Amino acid sequence: MSKKTKINISIFSVFIILFCFYNVLVYTSQDSKRPVELSYEASRGQVLWQNNNCWSCHQVYGLGGYLGPDLTNVYSARYKGENYIKAFLNSGLKQMPKFNFSEDEKDALVTYLKFIDSTGYYPNYDASFEITGWVDLENKNE
Ligand code: HEC
Repeated sequence: MSKKTKINISIFSVFIILFCFYNVLVYTSQDSKRPVELSYEASRGQVLWQNNNCWSCHQVYGLGGYLGPDLTNVYSARYKGENYIKAFLNSGLKQMPKFNFSEDEKDALVTYLKFIDSTGYYPNYDASFEITGWVDLENKNE
């Protein structure tokens, strides 16, 4: 084996070792383990959200349909919140369909939107890139 080949093999090995080290670091990092737990009430709201196709017009974290506004932070937005959300549900404003939810179902949907709101901000402008490649975001639940 020539000297050049030996050098190439050792450089390659160093990269492989660094790659393995990086992977262990990324996949064992506690940052990636944020369990998302929906309460019973919130998961009822999620089922209503899915069965009534809210997502076909609304987005959560920018994902969904675009006929209606993003609802990630509608619960905590200024002048909005629980009563505001409930008022929209059965009133049929503009292109939003008139639903016929019971008080109980409205509460479940509000709990679901409250839970989504507690997970973060959208759009989140307070983002910075860390040297490790992670994006550091300001999270509500930290
Ligand atoms: C066919 C499309 C459509 C569907 C389906 C729909 N919406 Fe809407 N929604 C809209 C539109 C359009 C608006 C904006 C109305 C306005 O501003 O007057 C809106 C507004 C809202 C608002 C007020 C948002 C804000 O920031 O002002 C809430 C809350 C809301 N919808 C919740 C829901 C929920 C919950 C569902 C499912 C049960 C749903 N919507 C299904 C179209 C839809």
